[in-house]
Amino acid sequence: MMDLAIADKVHDESRQGEALVLETKKAKNNGRKLYIESYGCAMNFSDSEIVASILLDQGYETTSDFNVADVIFINTCSIRENAEQRVRHRLREFTIAKVKNPGLVVGVLGCMAERLKSKFLEEEKLVDVVVGPDAYRDLPNLIDQVDSGQKAVNVLLSREETYADISPVRLNSNGINAFVSIMRGCDNMCSFCVVPFTRGRERSRDPQSIVKECTDLFNQGYREVTLLGQNVDSYKWGGSPKVGKSESPEEEKAEGLGDIQQVNFANLLEMVALINPDLRVRFSTSHPKDITDEVLYTIKKHDNICNYIHLPVQSGNSRVLEMMNRTYDRDWYINRIDAIRRIIPECAISTDVITGFCSETDEEHQDTLSMMDYVQYDFAYMFMYSERPGTLAAKRYADDIPDAVKRQRLKDVVAKQQQYSFSRLQAQVGSVQKVLIEGFSKKSDNDYCGRSDNNAMVVFPVGENYKPGQYVNVLIDRSTTATLIGKVV
Ligand code: SAH
Ligand code: SF4
Ligand code: F3S
Repeated sequence: MMDLAIADKVHDESRQGEALVLETKKAKNNGRKLYIESYGCAMNFSDSEIVASILLDQGYETTSDFNVADVIFINTCSIRENAEQRVRHRLREFTIAKVKNPGLVVGVLGCMAERLKSKFLEEEKLVDVVVGPDAYRDLPNLIDQVDSGQKAVNVLLSREETYADISPVRLNSNGINAFVSIMRGCDNMCSFCVVPFTRGRERSRDPQSIVKECTDLFNQGYREVTLLGQNVDSYKWGGSPKVGKSESPEEEKAEGLGDIQQVNFANLLEMVALINPDLRVRFSTSHPKDITDEVLYTIKKHDNICNYIHLPVQSGNSRVLEMMNRTYDRDWYINRIDAIRRIIPECAISTDVITGFCSETDEEHQDTLSMMDYVQYDFAYMFMYSERPGTLAAKRYADDIPDAVKRQRLKDVVAKQQQYSFSRLQAQVGSVQKVLIEGFSKKSDNDYCGRSDNNAMVVFPVGENYKPGQYVNVLIDRSTTATLIGKVV
Protein backbone atom coordinates (compact mmCIF):
# COMPACT_ATOMS: atom_id res chain seq x y z
CA MET A 1 0.00 0.00 0.00
CA MET A 2 2.67 2.46 -0.97
CA ASP A 3 0.72 4.47 -3.49
CA LEU A 4 0.88 7.81 -1.83
CA ALA A 5 -0.96 10.89 -2.87
CA ILE A 6 -0.61 14.37 -1.57
CA ALA A 7 -3.55 16.76 -1.92
CA ASP A 8 -7.07 16.10 -0.88
CA LYS A 9 -8.70 15.67 -4.27
CA VAL A 10 -11.43 13.12 -3.86
CA HIS A 11 -12.39 11.86 -7.25
CA ASP A 12 -9.34 10.71 -9.13
CA GLU A 13 -8.77 7.30 -7.69
CA SER A 14 -6.30 6.31 -10.41
CA ARG A 15 -4.22 8.71 -8.43
CA GLN A 16 -5.83 8.18 -5.04
CA GLY A 17 -7.43 5.23 -3.39
CA GLU A 18 -11.04 5.47 -2.32
CA ALA A 19 -14.01 3.75 -3.84
CA LEU A 20 -17.08 5.78 -4.62
CA VAL A 21 -20.45 4.33 -3.85
CA LEU A 22 -23.25 5.66 -5.95
CA GLU A 23 -26.83 6.20 -5.10
CA THR A 24 -29.83 7.80 -6.73
CA LYS A 25 -33.54 7.28 -7.33
CA LYS A 26 -35.72 7.20 -10.40
CA ALA A 27 -39.26 6.92 -11.78
CA LYS A 28 -40.75 3.76 -13.40
CA ASN A 29 -39.85 0.73 -11.40
CA ASN A 30 -39.08 -2.90 -12.24
CA GLY A 31 -38.66 -3.72 -8.58
CA ARG A 32 -34.93 -4.39 -8.90
CA LYS A 33 -32.23 -2.54 -7.07
CA LEU A 34 -28.79 -1.68 -8.47
CA TYR A 35 -25.72 -1.16 -6.33
CA ILE A 36 -22.69 0.25 -8.14
CA GLU A 37 -19.25 0.90 -6.79
CA SER A 38 -16.47 2.61 -8.76
CA TYR A 39 -12.71 2.33 -8.57
CA GLY A 40 -10.13 4.06 -10.71
CA CYS A 41 -10.04 7.38 -12.45
CA ALA A 42 -12.67 10.06 -12.92
CA MET A 43 -13.54 8.47 -16.23
CA ASN A 44 -14.69 5.32 -14.48
CA PHE A 45 -16.76 7.40 -12.12
CA SER A 46 -18.30 9.17 -15.08
CA ASP A 47 -18.94 5.82 -16.82
CA SER A 48 -20.80 4.58 -13.75
CA GLU A 49 -23.18 7.51 -14.26
CA ILE A 50 -23.79 6.29 -17.81
CA VAL A 51 -24.33 2.72 -16.59
CA ALA A 52 -26.80 3.97 -13.99
CA SER A 53 -28.63 5.93 -16.66
CA ILE A 54 -28.91 2.83 -18.89
CA LEU A 55 -30.30 0.70 -16.06
CA LEU A 56 -32.58 3.37 -14.62
CA ASP A 57 -34.15 3.55 -18.07
CA GLN A 58 -34.96 -0.14 -17.62
CA GLY A 59 -36.80 0.63 -14.39
CA TYR A 60 -34.06 -0.12 -11.88
CA GLU A 61 -33.67 1.85 -8.69
CA THR A 62 -30.29 2.39 -7.05
CA THR A 63 -29.30 1.59 -3.52
CA SER A 64 -26.28 2.38 -1.36
CA ASP A 65 -26.61 -0.93 0.52
CA PHE A 66 -25.27 -3.94 -1.39
CA ASN A 67 -27.08 -6.27 1.02
CA VAL A 68 -30.47 -5.31 -0.45
CA ALA A 69 -29.29 -5.16 -4.08
CA ASP A 70 -30.51 -7.42 -6.91
CA VAL A 71 -27.62 -6.37 -9.11
CA ILE A 72 -24.15 -5.46 -7.85
CA PHE A 73 -21.76 -3.81 -10.28
CA ILE A 74 -18.15 -3.09 -9.51
CA ASN A 75 -16.51 -0.73 -11.98
CA THR A 76 -12.84 -1.62 -11.88
CA CYS A 77 -9.35 -0.26 -12.49
CA SER A 78 -6.22 -2.06 -13.72
CA ILE A 79 -3.72 0.78 -13.55
CA ARG A 80 -1.53 -0.79 -10.85
CA GLU A 81 -1.51 -4.23 -9.33
CA ASN A 82 -2.84 -3.04 -5.99
CA ALA A 83 -5.86 -1.45 -7.73
CA GLU A 84 -6.78 -4.93 -8.96
CA GLN A 85 -6.14 -6.54 -5.59
CA ARG A 86 -8.49 -4.09 -3.95
CA VAL A 87 -11.26 -5.12 -6.33
CA ARG A 88 -10.70 -8.83 -5.76
CA HIS A 89 -10.83 -8.28 -2.05
CA ARG A 90 -14.08 -6.35 -2.37
CA LEU A 91 -15.61 -9.09 -4.54
CA ARG A 92 -15.02 -11.53 -1.73
CA GLU A 93 -17.09 -9.33 0.55
CA PHE A 94 -20.01 -9.58 -1.86
CA THR A 95 -20.11 -13.37 -1.34
CA ILE A 96 -22.24 -12.82 1.78
CA ALA A 97 -24.88 -11.03 -0.27
CA LYS A 98 -24.89 -13.85 -2.85
CA VAL A 99 -25.42 -16.49 -0.15
CA LYS A 100 -28.41 -14.56 1.17
CA ASN A 101 -29.84 -13.91 -2.28
CA PRO A 102 -28.95 -16.60 -4.87
CA GLY A 103 -30.73 -14.58 -7.60
CA LEU A 104 -28.26 -11.74 -7.11
CA VAL A 105 -26.38 -10.71 -10.26
CA VAL A 106 -22.74 -9.72 -9.71
CA GLY A 107 -21.08 -7.86 -12.57
CA VAL A 108 -17.54 -6.67 -13.14
CA LEU A 109 -17.30 -3.60 -15.36
CA GLY A 110 -14.47 -1.40 -16.56
CA CYS A 111 -10.78 -1.89 -17.09
CA MET A 112 -10.22 -5.15 -15.21
CA ALA A 113 -13.16 -6.67 -17.06
CA GLU A 114 -11.57 -5.65 -20.33
CA ARG A 115 -8.13 -6.89 -19.34
CA LEU A 116 -9.16 -10.27 -17.96
CA LYS A 117 -12.22 -10.95 -20.10
CA SER A 118 -13.81 -14.38 -19.56
CA LYS A 119 -10.86 -15.39 -17.37
CA PHE A 120 -12.66 -13.44 -14.68
CA LEU A 121 -15.48 -15.98 -14.68
CA GLU A 122 -13.00 -18.80 -14.09
CA GLU A 123 -11.05 -16.96 -11.43
CA GLU A 124 -13.91 -15.45 -9.47
CA LYS A 125 -16.82 -17.91 -9.26
CA LEU A 126 -19.05 -15.24 -7.76
CA VAL A 127 -19.03 -13.17 -10.94
CA ASP A 128 -21.95 -13.59 -13.39
CA VAL A 129 -21.24 -10.90 -15.93
CA VAL A 130 -18.10 -9.24 -17.32
CA VAL A 131 -18.51 -6.04 -19.33
CA GLY A 132 -15.86 -3.83 -20.91
CA PRO A 133 -16.03 -0.02 -21.04
CA ASP A 134 -17.44 0.16 -24.57
CA ALA A 135 -20.22 -2.41 -24.08
CA TYR A 136 -22.47 -0.77 -21.49
CA ARG A 137 -25.40 -0.39 -23.89
CA ASP A 138 -25.56 -4.19 -23.90
CA LEU A 139 -26.03 -4.43 -20.12
CA PRO A 140 -29.81 -5.05 -20.16
CA ASN A 141 -29.32 -8.01 -22.56
CA LEU A 142 -26.43 -9.37 -20.54
CA ILE A 143 -28.48 -9.27 -17.35
CA ASP A 144 -31.30 -11.10 -19.17
CA GLN A 145 -28.80 -13.81 -20.11
CA VAL A 146 -27.77 -14.18 -16.50
CA ASP A 147 -31.42 -14.31 -15.42
CA SER A 148 -31.87 -17.26 -17.79
CA GLY A 149 -29.06 -19.13 -16.10
CA GLN A 150 -26.00 -18.30 -18.20
CA LYS A 151 -22.88 -16.32 -17.49
CA ALA A 152 -22.45 -13.33 -19.81
CA VAL A 153 -19.45 -11.49 -21.27
CA ASN A 154 -19.16 -8.52 -23.61
CA VAL A 155 -15.72 -6.95 -23.86
CA LEU A 156 -15.88 -5.66 -27.43
CA LEU A 157 -14.03 -2.40 -27.82
CA SER A 158 -15.36 0.18 -30.23
CA ARG A 159 -13.85 2.87 -32.42
CA GLU A 160 -16.97 5.01 -32.25
CA GLU A 161 -18.75 4.58 -28.93
CA THR A 162 -18.77 7.80 -26.86
CA TYR A 163 -22.21 7.40 -25.22
CA ALA A 164 -22.77 10.94 -26.51
CA ASP A 165 -26.56 10.62 -26.51
CA ILE A 166 -26.85 9.16 -23.01
CA SER A 167 -27.60 11.69 -20.37
CA PRO A 168 -25.64 10.53 -17.29
CA VAL A 169 -27.52 10.16 -14.02
CA ARG A 170 -25.55 12.28 -11.54
CA LEU A 171 -24.71 10.01 -8.65
CA ASN A 172 -23.52 10.96 -5.18
CA SER A 173 -23.61 14.51 -6.48
CA ASN A 174 -23.35 17.74 -4.54
CA GLY A 175 -25.24 19.41 -7.41
CA ILE A 176 -22.30 21.78 -7.97
CA ASN A 177 -19.42 19.95 -9.71
CA ALA A 178 -19.80 17.38 -12.47
CA PHE A 179 -17.50 15.35 -14.69
CA VAL A 180 -18.14 15.43 -18.42
CA SER A 181 -16.36 12.92 -20.68
CA ILE A 182 -15.14 14.55 -23.89
CA MET A 183 -13.27 11.59 -25.32
CA ARG A 184 -12.53 7.91 -24.69
CA GLY A 185 -9.58 5.59 -25.09
CA CYS A 186 -5.94 6.44 -25.63
CA ASP A 187 -3.59 6.03 -28.60
CA ASN A 188 -0.38 6.92 -26.80
CA MET A 189 1.06 3.61 -25.77
CA CYS A 190 3.19 4.79 -22.86
CA SER A 191 5.17 1.62 -22.20
CA PHE A 192 4.08 1.26 -18.55
CA CYS A 193 0.39 1.83 -19.13
CA VAL A 194 -2.50 -0.59 -19.46
CA VAL A 195 -5.11 2.01 -20.49
CA PRO A 196 -4.73 1.67 -24.29
CA PHE A 197 -5.50 -2.04 -23.84
CA THR A 198 -8.43 -1.61 -21.50
CA ARG A 199 -10.02 1.44 -23.08
CA GLY A 200 -9.22 0.97 -26.75
CA ARG A 201 -8.58 3.55 -29.43
CA GLU A 202 -8.87 7.22 -28.81
CA ARG A 203 -12.07 8.87 -30.05
CA SER A 204 -13.58 12.29 -29.42
CA ARG A 205 -17.17 13.06 -28.59
CA ASP A 206 -19.38 15.39 -30.62
CA PRO A 207 -18.76 18.93 -29.29
CA GLN A 208 -22.43 19.86 -29.57
CA SER A 209 -23.38 17.01 -27.23
CA ILE A 210 -20.70 18.21 -24.79
CA VAL A 211 -21.93 21.80 -24.86
CA LYS A 212 -25.50 20.60 -24.45
CA GLU A 213 -24.63 18.45 -21.44
CA CYS A 214 -22.73 21.34 -19.81
CA THR A 215 -25.56 23.78 -20.55
CA ASP A 216 -28.10 21.40 -19.02
CA LEU A 217 -25.88 21.05 -15.96
CA PHE A 218 -25.64 24.82 -15.60
CA ASN A 219 -29.41 25.14 -15.91
CA GLN A 220 -29.80 22.55 -13.14
CA GLY A 221 -27.64 24.68 -10.86
CA TYR A 222 -24.22 23.09 -11.41
CA ARG A 223 -21.40 25.64 -11.37
CA GLU A 224 -18.33 23.62 -12.32
CA VAL A 225 -17.61 21.05 -15.01
CA THR A 226 -14.43 19.02 -15.41
CA LEU A 227 -13.86 17.92 -19.00
CA LEU A 228 -12.34 14.44 -18.97
CA GLY A 229 -10.04 12.54 -21.29
CA GLN A 230 -6.79 10.57 -21.00
CA ASN A 231 -5.19 13.19 -23.21
CA VAL A 232 -7.55 16.14 -23.61
CA ASP A 233 -5.07 18.01 -25.81
CA SER A 234 -5.59 15.53 -28.62
CA TYR A 235 -9.36 16.18 -28.64
CA LYS A 236 -10.41 16.55 -32.26
CA TRP A 237 -13.77 16.64 -33.96
CA GLY A 238 -14.64 17.00 -37.63
CA GLY A 239 -12.42 17.71 -40.59
CA SER A 240 -11.65 14.03 -41.05
CA PRO A 241 -14.05 11.21 -41.79
CA LYS A 242 -12.38 9.17 -39.03
CA VAL A 243 -13.55 11.41 -36.23
CA GLY A 244 -16.56 13.20 -37.74
CA LYS A 245 -19.65 11.11 -38.24
CA SER A 246 -21.33 13.37 -40.83
CA GLU A 247 -21.46 12.07 -44.38
CA SER A 248 -22.41 15.37 -46.07
CA PRO A 249 -22.49 19.14 -45.43
CA GLU A 250 -26.30 18.91 -45.10
CA GLU A 251 -25.97 16.31 -42.41
CA GLU A 252 -23.36 18.43 -40.64
CA LYS A 253 -25.75 21.37 -40.60
CA ALA A 254 -28.48 19.12 -39.29
CA GLU A 255 -26.15 18.06 -36.49
CA GLY A 256 -25.67 21.70 -35.65
CA LEU A 257 -21.99 21.91 -36.56
CA GLY A 258 -22.76 24.49 -39.27
CA ASP A 259 -19.61 25.42 -41.13
CA ILE A 260 -17.18 24.59 -38.31
CA GLN A 261 -14.44 22.62 -40.03
CA GLN A 262 -12.63 21.19 -37.07
CA VAL A 263 -12.87 21.58 -33.32
CA ASN A 264 -9.68 21.18 -31.31
CA PHE A 265 -9.35 21.23 -27.53
CA ALA A 266 -8.78 25.00 -27.34
CA ASN A 267 -11.95 25.55 -29.40
CA LEU A 268 -13.92 23.15 -27.22
CA LEU A 269 -12.72 24.82 -24.01
CA GLU A 270 -13.88 28.15 -25.37
CA MET A 271 -17.27 26.78 -26.44
CA VAL A 272 -17.85 25.46 -22.91
CA ALA A 273 -16.51 28.63 -21.26
CA LEU A 274 -18.96 30.73 -23.28
CA ILE A 275 -21.99 28.86 -21.88
CA ASN A 276 -22.00 31.20 -18.88
CA PRO A 277 -19.32 33.21 -17.04
CA ASP A 278 -20.57 31.62 -13.79
CA LEU A 279 -19.78 28.11 -15.01
CA ARG A 280 -16.25 27.17 -14.03
CA VAL A 281 -14.42 24.93 -16.47
CA ARG A 282 -11.69 22.48 -15.48
CA PHE A 283 -10.10 19.69 -17.49
CA SER A 284 -7.89 16.65 -17.05
CA THR A 285 -5.47 15.21 -18.17
CA SER A 286 -3.11 17.33 -20.27
CA HIS A 287 -0.28 15.59 -22.07
CA PRO A 288 3.09 17.39 -22.22
CA LYS A 289 3.64 16.35 -25.83
CA ASP A 290 0.35 17.85 -27.00
CA ILE A 291 -0.52 20.87 -24.85
CA THR A 292 -0.41 23.91 -27.15
CA ASP A 293 0.10 27.62 -26.56
CA GLU A 294 -3.36 28.05 -28.10
CA VAL A 295 -4.83 26.13 -25.15
CA LEU A 296 -2.82 28.31 -22.73
CA TYR A 297 -4.04 31.53 -24.38
CA THR A 298 -7.62 30.24 -24.25
CA ILE A 299 -7.26 29.60 -20.50
CA LYS A 300 -5.84 33.11 -20.09
CA LYS A 301 -8.63 34.69 -22.15
CA HIS A 302 -11.55 33.27 -20.15
CA ASP A 303 -11.81 34.02 -16.44
CA ASN A 304 -14.03 30.99 -15.92
CA ILE A 305 -11.48 28.50 -17.27
CA CYS A 306 -9.57 27.65 -14.12
CA ASN A 307 -5.87 28.41 -13.84
CA TYR A 308 -4.87 24.88 -13.10
CA ILE A 309 -3.13 22.31 -15.27
CA HIS A 310 -2.39 18.69 -14.43
CA LEU A 311 0.66 17.89 -16.55
CA PRO A 312 2.06 14.47 -15.60
CA VAL A 313 5.85 14.35 -15.99
CA GLN A 314 6.33 10.68 -14.91
CA SER A 315 10.13 11.11 -14.83
CA GLY A 316 12.57 14.02 -15.05
CA ASN A 317 15.12 12.02 -17.02
CA SER A 318 15.16 11.89 -20.82
CA ARG A 319 16.43 8.33 -21.11
CA VAL A 320 13.71 7.05 -18.79
CA LEU A 321 11.08 9.13 -20.62
CA GLU A 322 12.22 7.55 -23.87
CA MET A 323 11.86 4.07 -22.39
CA MET A 324 8.47 5.05 -21.09
CA ASN A 325 7.58 6.03 -24.66
CA ARG A 326 6.27 9.38 -23.45
CA THR A 327 7.53 11.00 -26.70
CA TYR A 328 8.89 14.12 -24.98
CA ASP A 329 12.17 14.68 -23.18
CA ARG A 330 13.20 16.75 -20.19
CA ASP A 331 13.86 19.89 -22.28
CA TRP A 332 10.51 19.67 -24.02
CA TYR A 333 8.71 19.33 -20.69
CA ILE A 334 10.59 22.33 -19.28
CA ASN A 335 9.67 24.30 -22.38
CA ARG A 336 5.98 23.58 -21.74
CA ILE A 337 6.32 24.59 -18.07
CA ASP A 338 8.03 27.82 -19.14
CA ALA A 339 5.19 28.50 -21.59
CA ILE A 340 2.61 28.05 -18.81
CA ARG A 341 4.55 30.34 -16.46
CA ARG A 342 4.93 32.96 -19.21
CA ILE A 343 1.33 32.95 -20.49
CA ILE A 344 -0.55 32.25 -17.24
CA PRO A 345 1.82 33.22 -14.40
CA GLU A 346 -0.78 32.52 -11.72
CA CYS A 347 -1.48 28.97 -12.97
CA ALA A 348 -1.22 26.04 -10.54
CA ILE A 349 0.49 22.95 -11.91
CA SER A 350 0.28 19.37 -10.66
CA THR A 351 1.88 16.17 -11.85
CA ASP A 352 2.15 12.38 -11.68
CA VAL A 353 5.47 10.69 -10.94
CA ILE A 354 6.50 7.04 -11.24
CA THR A 355 9.50 5.88 -9.20
CA GLY A 356 11.67 2.85 -9.96
CA PHE A 357 10.74 2.36 -13.60
CA CYS A 358 12.77 -0.38 -15.32
CA SER A 359 16.53 0.26 -15.14
CA GLU A 360 16.16 3.72 -13.54
CA THR A 361 19.48 4.67 -11.89
CA ASP A 362 19.97 6.80 -8.80
CA GLU A 363 21.18 9.71 -10.94
CA GLU A 364 18.09 9.43 -13.12
CA HIS A 365 15.94 9.47 -10.01
CA GLN A 366 17.77 12.66 -8.97
CA ASP A 367 16.65 14.19 -12.28
CA THR A 368 13.05 13.65 -11.21
CA LEU A 369 13.77 15.41 -7.92
CA SER A 370 15.48 18.30 -9.70
CA MET A 371 12.50 18.60 -12.05
CA MET A 372 10.31 18.94 -8.96
CA ASP A 373 12.60 21.74 -7.77
CA TYR A 374 12.35 23.42 -11.15
CA VAL A 375 8.57 23.32 -11.43
CA GLN A 376 7.61 23.55 -7.75
CA TYR A 377 4.39 21.65 -8.30
CA ASP A 378 1.31 22.63 -6.33
CA PHE A 379 0.71 18.96 -5.79
CA ALA A 380 1.56 15.56 -7.16
CA TYR A 381 0.33 12.00 -7.30
CA MET A 382 3.26 9.66 -6.82
CA PHE A 383 3.55 5.93 -7.45
CA MET A 384 6.04 3.09 -7.45
CA TYR A 385 6.24 1.44 -10.83
CA SER A 386 3.93 -1.57 -11.06
CA GLU A 387 4.45 -3.87 -14.03
CA ARG A 388 1.24 -4.52 -15.95
CA PRO A 389 0.87 -7.69 -18.04
CA GLY A 390 0.75 -7.10 -21.78
CA THR A 391 2.22 -3.59 -21.75
CA LEU A 392 5.25 -2.67 -23.86
CA ALA A 393 7.41 -2.34 -20.75
CA ALA A 394 6.39 -5.80 -19.52
CA LYS A 395 7.35 -7.25 -22.89
CA ARG A 396 10.58 -5.35 -23.44
CA TYR A 397 12.16 -4.51 -20.10
CA ALA A 398 12.93 -6.27 -16.86
CA ASP A 399 11.14 -4.89 -13.79
CA ASP A 400 14.57 -4.81 -12.17
CA ILE A 401 14.44 -2.13 -9.48
CA PRO A 402 14.03 -3.82 -6.08
CA ASP A 403 10.88 -2.92 -4.18
CA ALA A 404 12.87 -1.37 -1.35
CA VAL A 405 14.58 0.99 -3.81
CA LYS A 406 11.30 1.91 -5.51
CA ARG A 407 9.87 2.61 -2.09
CA GLN A 408 12.82 4.74 -0.97
CA ARG A 409 12.63 6.78 -4.16
CA LEU A 410 8.92 7.21 -3.61
CA LYS A 411 9.64 8.49 -0.13
CA ASP A 412 12.10 10.99 -1.61
CA VAL A 413 9.59 12.40 -4.07
CA VAL A 414 6.82 12.46 -1.48
CA ALA A 415 9.02 14.37 0.97
CA LYS A 416 9.98 16.87 -1.69
CA GLN A 417 6.41 17.34 -2.81
CA GLN A 418 5.20 17.87 0.74
CA GLN A 419 7.61 20.74 1.00
CA TYR A 420 6.37 22.38 -2.22
CA SER A 421 2.67 21.69 -1.59
CA PHE A 422 3.04 23.55 1.68
CA SER A 423 5.13 26.43 0.34
CA ARG A 424 2.78 26.96 -2.61
CA LEU A 425 -0.14 27.23 -0.18
CA GLN A 426 1.81 29.43 2.23
CA ALA A 427 2.54 31.83 -0.63
CA GLN A 428 -1.21 32.46 -0.88
CA VAL A 429 -1.61 33.58 2.72
CA GLY A 430 -2.71 37.23 2.64
CA SER A 431 -4.31 36.91 -0.82
CA VAL A 432 -8.01 36.97 -1.69
CA GLN A 433 -9.25 33.86 -3.51
CA LYS A 434 -12.51 33.44 -5.42
CA VAL A 435 -14.03 30.24 -4.06
CA LEU A 436 -16.97 28.20 -5.34
CA ILE A 437 -18.67 26.89 -2.19
CA GLU A 438 -19.11 23.09 -2.41
CA GLY A 439 -20.60 22.34 1.01
CA PHE A 440 -19.70 21.91 4.65
CA SER A 441 -16.07 21.21 5.45
CA LYS A 442 -15.19 17.61 6.26
CA LYS A 443 -14.34 18.50 9.82
CA SER A 444 -17.07 20.88 10.94
CA ASP A 445 -20.58 22.04 10.06
CA ASN A 446 -19.55 25.52 11.17
CA ASP A 447 -17.29 25.79 8.13
CA TYR A 448 -17.83 25.69 4.42
CA CYS A 449 -15.28 24.40 1.94
CA GLY A 450 -14.72 24.98 -1.73
CA ARG A 451 -11.92 25.30 -4.21
CA SER A 452 -10.10 28.34 -5.44
CA ASP A 453 -9.61 28.98 -9.12
CA ASN A 454 -6.26 27.21 -8.96
CA ASN A 455 -7.76 24.17 -7.26
CA ALA A 456 -6.63 24.69 -3.65
CA MET A 457 -9.14 23.57 -1.01
CA VAL A 458 -10.29 26.57 1.04
CA VAL A 459 -12.12 26.41 4.38
CA PHE A 460 -13.95 29.37 5.95
CA PRO A 461 -16.79 29.99 8.42
CA VAL A 462 -20.42 29.47 7.37
CA GLY A 463 -22.29 32.78 6.93
CA GLU A 464 -25.87 33.90 6.32
CA ASN A 465 -25.25 35.68 3.05
CA TYR A 466 -23.80 32.82 1.08
CA LYS A 467 -24.43 29.13 0.46
CA PRO A 468 -23.14 26.14 -1.55
CA GLY A 469 -23.14 26.79 -5.29
CA GLN A 470 -22.25 30.47 -4.84
CA TYR A 471 -18.94 32.23 -5.32
CA VAL A 472 -17.33 34.16 -2.46
CA ASN A 473 -14.07 36.04 -2.04
CA VAL A 474 -12.05 34.61 0.81
CA LEU A 475 -9.13 36.38 2.46
CA ILE A 476 -6.61 33.65 3.29
CA ASP A 477 -5.11 34.01 6.74
CA ARG A 478 -3.28 30.72 7.13
CA SER A 479 -2.69 27.29 5.62
CA THR A 480 -2.18 23.70 6.65
CA THR A 481 -0.22 21.29 4.42
CA ALA A 482 -3.28 20.70 2.24
CA THR A 483 -5.82 23.47 2.91
CA LEU A 484 -6.13 27.24 2.90
CA ILE A 485 -8.07 28.78 5.78
CA GLY A 486 -9.67 32.22 5.74
CA LYS A 487 -12.76 34.45 5.98
CA VAL A 488 -15.20 35.80 3.46
CA VAL A 489 -14.60 39.47 2.64
N1 SAH B 1 -3.55 9.75 -19.24
C1 SAH B 1 -2.84 10.18 -18.11
C2 SAH B 1 -2.58 9.11 -17.10
C3 SAH B 1 -3.65 8.20 -16.62
S1 SAH B 1 -3.12 6.98 -15.49
C4 SAH B 1 -1.50 10.71 -18.56
O1 SAH B 1 -1.00 10.36 -19.60
O2 SAH B 1 -0.91 11.45 -17.81
C5 SAH B 1 -2.70 7.95 -14.06
C6 SAH B 1 -1.29 7.81 -13.61
O3 SAH B 1 -1.04 6.52 -13.12
C7 SAH B 1 -0.23 8.01 -14.67
O4 SAH B 1 0.02 9.35 -14.95
C8 SAH B 1 0.97 7.33 -14.06
O5 SAH B 1 1.71 8.22 -13.24
C9 SAH B 1 0.34 6.27 -13.18
N2 SAH B 1 0.57 4.94 -13.75
C10 SAH B 1 0.10 4.44 -14.90
N3 SAH B 1 0.55 3.19 -15.11
C11 SAH B 1 1.35 2.89 -14.05
C12 SAH B 1 2.11 1.75 -13.67
N4 SAH B 1 2.18 0.68 -14.44
N5 SAH B 1 2.78 1.79 -12.48
C13 SAH B 1 2.74 2.88 -11.70
N6 SAH B 1 2.02 3.99 -12.01
C14 SAH B 1 1.34 4.00 -13.17
FE1 SF4 C 1 -1.64 5.74 -20.32
FE2 SF4 C 1 0.04 7.29 -21.60
FE3 SF4 C 1 -2.46 7.09 -22.44
FE4 SF4 C 1 -1.91 8.38 -20.19
S1 SF4 C 1 -1.26 8.98 -22.24
S2 SF4 C 1 -3.54 6.86 -20.52
S3 SF4 C 1 -0.25 7.21 -19.36
S4 SF4 C 1 -0.94 5.46 -22.44
FE1 F3S D 1 -7.88 2.72 -14.06
FE2 F3S D 1 -9.00 2.31 -16.35
FE3 F3S D 1 -8.98 4.73 -15.34
S1 F3S D 1 -7.14 1.40 -15.65
S2 F3S D 1 -7.09 4.73 -14.22
S3 F3S D 1 -10.01 3.01 -14.50
S4 F3S D 1 -8.86 4.21 -17.46
